[in-house]
Amino acid sequence: MAEDLKTRVHDFWQANPCGAKFARSEIGTRGFFEELERHRYETEWHIPEVVGFERWRDRDVLEIGCGLATDAVRFARAGANYTGIDLTEGSIALASRRFDLEGLTGDLRVADAENLPFPESSFDLVYSHGVLHHTPDLEKAINEVHRVLRPEGIAMVMLYHRHSYNYYINIMTLRRIGVRLLKFSWGPRLVKALTGEDEVRLTQLREQYLGDSERMLSRAEFLNQNTDGAGNPLARAITKREALDLFSRFGSVRTKVHFLNKRWIPLAGRIMPRLIEKNLASLFGWHLWIIARK
Ligand SMILES: C[S@@+](CC[C@H](N)C(=O)[O-])C[C@H]1O[C@@H](n2cnc3c(N)ncnc32)[C@H](O)[C@@H]1O
Repeated sequence: MAEDLKTRVHDFWQANPCGAKFARSEIGTRGFFEELERHRYETEWHIPEVVGFERWRDRDVLEIGCGLATDAVRFARAGANYTGIDLTEGSIALASRRFDLEGLTGDLRVADAENLPFPESSFDLVYSHGVLHHTPDLEKAINEVHRVLRPEGIAMVMLYHRHSYNYYINIMTLRRIGVRLLKFSWGPRLVKALTGEDEVRLTQLREQYLGDSERMLSRAEFLNQNTDGAGNPLARAITKREALDLFSRFGSVRTKVHFLNKRWIPLAGRIMPRLIEKNLASLFGWHLWIIARK
């Protein structure tokens, strides 16, 4: 059962390389990667502040779920000894291409977060951004993070945050209302006009809704379908309390919340100043960062 779910997780990400939809250039080209990078740090401007890529020069860094290597190249450019793994061959092929285009070195390989192919105490930093909430056995993956870290090593892990605007207001309220509108043939166009959401994606959601509305509206399934695209087999959102429990084997753990995607806030989001966005994000943001020391 868990293996079947893992296969579906693999197949989803293999077919939908993370973030590719944010670039218009041909996939795998220099222009494509530049667009990805621009989009990422325009919308998630807190990442460089939190990670401090330059701090990891000459240190052994493992990234779990490197996707298309947007943060990976930042570590490598800063001079870290970078290792990146991902469950999908497609992501590793694109990440390797990106490293080649920039003349960067790194060890990039297909591997599973739940069974890391490294001896214990191998890394100074284990970084994982938006990945482990998609793997079936989250606890096993966190145990692996702990195992491969050196004593005093740091884990930086971003998981989706349940006590957030995105979870309660955007996904579980506005989107659930929106999905009910999708049953009408004019629904996708109306919802697109109200939210700016992609019409193709809305049409996919409409098909799912018409197929089995009860299953689609269950909390767990609705979350799966409304985070990283229709067809995503698994996404979880956790509380700070749950995060502290999950990382309780570590010597010290702190959490911080970031990221309020302004696109999700109808009307006001478009004109919200950065300072207000930052303060609201620290209270109700979608990205729960866990920084733990072994
Ligand atoms: C939302 S993307 C995040 C990618 C990247 N960290 C970023 O922030 O752009 C999730 C990635 O996690 C990978 N992934 C999912 N489950 C995994 C697992 N068990 N082991 C390794 N990678 C996994 C997927 O293949 C996908 O590339």
